[in-house]
Amino acid sequence: MSTVDQTREGDVLVLTINNPPVNAFSPGVPEGLHAGLDAAEGDAGVRSVVIIGGGRTFIAGADIKTFDLPREQAPDLRGFIARLDAFTKPTVAAIHGTALGGGLEVALACTYRVATRDAQLGLPEVKLGVLPGAGGTQRLPRVVGVPKALEMMLGGNPIKATEAKELGLVDELVEGDLREGAVAFARAHADERPLPRLSERRAEGGSPELFAAAREGIRKTHRGQLSPSLIIDLAEMATSQPFQEGWDAEARLFMQAKDSPQSRGLRHIFFAEREAGKIPGLTRDTPTTEIRAAGIIGAGTMGGGIAMNFLNAGIPVTIVETSQDALDRGLSVIRKNYENTAKKGRLTLEQVEGRMNLLTPTLDMGDLKDADIIIEAVFENMDVKKDIFTRLDAIAKPGAILATNTSTLDVNEIASVTSRPEQVIGLHFFSPANVMRLLEIVRADKTSDSVLATSLALARRIKKVGVVVGVCDGFVGNRMIHRYGDEARKLVEEGARPQDADAAMHALGLPMGPFEMSDMAGLDVGYLIRQHQAKVAGKPKPDGWLDRIVEAGRKGQKTQAGIYDYPDGRKPVPAASTDELLTTYRQEKGLQSREISQEEATERLVYSLVNEGARILEEGIAQRAGDIDVIYIYGYGFPAYRGGPMRYADEMGLKNVAAALEKYGQTPAPLLRQLADEGKTFEQWDWEKARG
Ligand code: 3HC
Repeated sequence: MSTVDQTREGDVLVLTINNPPVNAFSPGVPEGLHAGLDAAEGDAGVRSVVIIGGGRTFIAGADIKTFDLPREQAPDLRGFIARLDAFTKPTVAAIHGTALGGGLEVALACTYRVATRDAQLGLPEVKLGVLPGAGGTQRLPRVVGVPKALEMMLGGNPIKATEAKELGLVDELVEGDLREGAVAFARAHADERPLPRLSERRAEGGSPELFAAAREGIRKTHRGQLSPSLIIDLAEMATSQPFQEGWDAEARLFMQAKDSPQSRGLRHIFFAEREAGKIPGLTRDTPTTEIRAAGIIGAGTMGGGIAMNFLNAGIPVTIVETSQDALDRGLSVIRKNYENTAKKGRLTLEQVEGRMNLLTPTLDMGDLKDADIIIEAVFENMDVKKDIFTRLDAIAKPGAILATNTSTLDVNEIASVTSRPEQVIGLHFFSPANVMRLLEIVRADKTSDSVLATSLALARRIKKVGVVVGVCDGFVGNRMIHRYGDEARKLVEEGARPQDADAAMHALGLPMGPFEMSDMAGLDVGYLIRQHQAKVAGKPKPDGWLDRIVEAGRKGQKTQAGIYDYPDGRKPVPAASTDELLTTYRQEKGLQSREISQEEATERLVYSLVNEGARILEEGIAQRAGDIDVIYIYGYGFPAYRGGPMRYADEMGLKNVAAALEKYGQTPAPLLRQLADEGKTFEQWDWEKARG
């Protein structure tokens, strides 16, 4: 089978692209398609051409792996599209699966598009920090109108073929066999002349006000990003300039976006997210258990949020609490969440009831006996968790997965109280658990491959991004965030104001800085941990400035007062009382205040994450640097266009990172030191070799 098969169906030439898994426009594909057009051109018996994808999809886009190749080696998508647009016989794109990015651009350059009802069409380039670079910015507005084209190109989400048909983007929906339908369509339109070309149409619906509003909109939705504003510029050109001008400008701006650190960061995350699911030793043949019913212990904020993920995926949940009150409260929060979604029009009331009907509340843990997975989500106390797991061991059916949602505790110790530690795993959801996409899958020493593989599959099913991590205090995300929190506190001791430290992270694109995050999570949690740890270690009671804030009764957003004031309940406003407390604190402790630049604050905060990340990698708690990046993007709001903290460090150069850490009095982790000396990046580190 060649990359592009040519088959004659009477007077129609069918070109089938065979480039699994997603028929990306990789090397070989343009050559095959050109050969097909050559054949069609050279044969008077061919009156029309169909382009179709073999396997599960039409072309899912340019091949992202070739983006960094020199231009001469990269597949020439634009060259093929230019030829297709000028082709003198009718061409029909036959779309199933997904026609995305360059795939949709190929379809747009065909004379006609037909699709199966369940196909999806979109221009997701913005998600990779680029823009549709093969005519999409110029043709899409000319077919669906400017407002819809902007929505599709700035949001990057595909639309269904049924909607595409209504918009005129698809000419015909094919019921039954796509290939047959496409051939029949091609034959029926073989003689129509002149050939309708989208490049010759006008783009309707644009106005100065619309473009101004779009520019204003991306300030919120895509803060700090380059490619969305280029997309708007190009859509505007589609309304005001001849096609050729827009087409040429698009090529230039595509290169500009593609060569930006933002695009490198986003592409890194695209692949890192997919790599994260690949675990040495697990194969397609690793047996998995089908999850038909779940049990959740604890109907608090975490338990309720976790339950919603299962209900959304159609998996029945039995939820256990210790009192009727707590159970009622938990259920009413879940219902309210669903009703709020329904108010926004994203669920029907029927769907709300459907989901609530999948939920069985109970006070009897014995009701979990039929669950395929049981997730414990009670508060962080080892004794309580051990007691629960001892009881679960007696109740759960053989083969059930016993999971803990602990965010810090030792999963090995929890597993040790059961007679089946191989069935025990950590599933660390992030709050709010029904919203945040990250799931840290904590593999304990004895967790079986099958339980791990089932957990990874489950993550996908409940629409989470699962990342496998090892057991240590705080696993990956929280262990790193502790170092970051320490560094933020130090910055303030040295003279920065809390809002300065937060602003340093806003500058990098994080929605919240370390102190806004602490106030939101509640300052008392960290306070209690610090007090407890000091007591256990026989050390004096901690007396940091943050401890003093908590002791003044300011526990964060929930008490309307923490490091910041919250006059309207949510928005942090710098607090005069914190300034006063800090002045007194620094005087009492004899601390000298100095001006700290935003650059220093940013470097110290991010590099504290990176340095701990390097230790985590060395210890094998995370497999690859990309796993850590995925954790920070989906769990902590690190901007995806920075590629995550480890990628950011790679972009800055590890030599510079190590030098900066030293300048600020920190010791670079050995792995960071080693890679810096070797002139390598975290991405280039051969983690499999390093671990033998
Ligand atoms: N280039 C290279 N590899 C790609 C790819 C692409 N465009 N799209 C997917 N892949 C790879 C994935 O990395 C993965 O590889 P792996 O098996 O080695 O991990 C494999 O194909 C399967 O992908 P998924 O695991 O994501 O499979 P799904 O079935 O879940 O999803 C999909 C399929 C919806 C097509 C999804 O892969 C996707 O969204 N792909 C990206 C599509 C995209 O962004 N296209 C635009 C590219 S940019 C462009 O076209 C520029 C142009 O305008 C000039």
